[in-house]
Amino acid sequence: MSDTPLTDAVRRYRDSVRARLHVPAHGGGPGSPWLDALFPGLAGWDVTEQPELDDLSHPDGPLAAAQDAAAQLYGAAQAHYLTGGATQGVHAAVLASLLHGGALLAARDSHRSLLGAALLANADVVLVSPERDPHFGVSLGPSAKSVGQALAEHPDIRAVLVPYPTYLGIAPDLGAIAREAHAHGVLTIADAAHGAHFGWHPALPQAPLAAGADIVVAGMHKSGGSLTQTAILLAGDGALGMSDDLALALRLIGTSSPSYILMTSLEQAVAQAARDPGYLLDSAIAAAQRVESAARVMTGLPQDPLRVALQFDRPDLASDFCGRLAQNALRGEYFEEGLALFIVPFGPPRHIDLLTKAARDLSRPRPAEPGPVLPLERIAPARALRARRTRRILQEAVGCTAADVVSVVPPGIPALWPGERISQAAVETLQRALSQGRRVMGIDQQWLWVVSE
Ligand SMILES: Cc1ncc(COP(=O)(O)O)c(C=O)c1O
Repeated sequence: MSDTPLTDAVRRYRDSVRARLHVPAHGGGPGSPWLDALFPGLAGWDVTEQPELDDLSHPDGPLAAAQDAAAQLYGAAQAHYLTGGATQGVHAAVLASLLHGGALLAARDSHRSLLGAALLANADVVLVSPERDPHFGVSLGPSAKSVGQALAEHPDIRAVLVPYPTYLGIAPDLGAIAREAHAHGVLTIADAAHGAHFGWHPALPQAPLAAGADIVVAGMHKSGGSLTQTAILLAGDGALGMSDDLALALRLIGTSSPSYILMTSLEQAVAQAARDPGYLLDSAIAAAQRVESAARVMTGLPQDPLRVALQFDRPDLASDFCGRLAQNALRGEYFEEGLALFIVPFGPPRHIDLLTKAARDLSRPRPAEPGPVLPLERIAPARALRARRTRRILQEAVGCTAADVVSVVPPGIPALWPGERISQAAVETLQRALSQGRRVMGIDQQWLWVVSE
């Protein structure tokens, strides 16, 4: 039997139906010669939920089989395809977990999808500060101890959202965090936007379900090899009792016309990982490990070798380094402040030796200044966004309550969440970012929205 039943079904449809008198309006190609010229043949694969192609909201045919294959790959009780990125997965996981009330615990440096999740669930969020690496200063994610303290202080928390791993590929101790959560009867949701491939190779950190998460948002396009915008929501045994809530949340926030191009790409990525993870990872990991540099961020925690993060003493050194590589047509993921991140793609490496050579002679950065340790904070983002608001100039905003999300892009991790008291440290960080000419979402010419008080 084929290990790609969905792809097979779409191919059969493409080959057997002569006239598509149904949406999409391009009719499988003829209605858009421009698209067909740009991506020959692609529109033929762009079908909708025809009877033999199954229905993502109630799958019982090839989509069900494809999702079962994903569940098997990950050792999950259930897998749900997503075509709205890891963002959709975070939204659905949080909404389902808090459908019957309660608050959410999340790391302060969570991705901004947290905000939409809190609004959908109309939930308060308890923000916990991540630990920092003592030398490089980068986020290590929250510690189990701080999670335990937050759970004890806020007994209405029903779910903990943990980045596993961080953007830099650093894996916090998810097992210990999940044990704390379970001891309080709380669900653990792993945001694995960057960890869909964990567990596929011995050099990679443990897979999030195996580490103890109940629900996992696997960011397949960022870290699993499928097309942009795809992700998979995995439910472990600990989430079995909430499968109806998860299905409801997914139906509420998903499109009613999921792209079969995106979904076949998910199936292909899953099948590839099940068949031959070595092809995907052996040479890529070996090449990434050859990027030896005193500037390479190495922490004491398990880390993804495919994420090459280099730390510099000054922002201009990071941008010069990236600029030199860009002259050789090598483009990294992002650089911000003094940090440059490169992500080694799957498969046989191409041109990585340019990075390896350039990184070799970099010196070890000075130890990072210890950042402010922010206290546990409980915010009500929905209330702050709906409150009467006024504009304040950044330097006069200390002590006000933020009424919008403010984040430096990239990487887009909020510096301020709606409902958060604006600290002096946050203002200084934002002023520094603006003076470096970086893009700051939520601030317009030094002005930002705060709650009128
Ligand atoms: C930790 C984390 N979670 C979730 C997301 C959202 O992922 P997507 O862009 O697939 O919606 C991102 C995106 O950068 C992320 O870094």
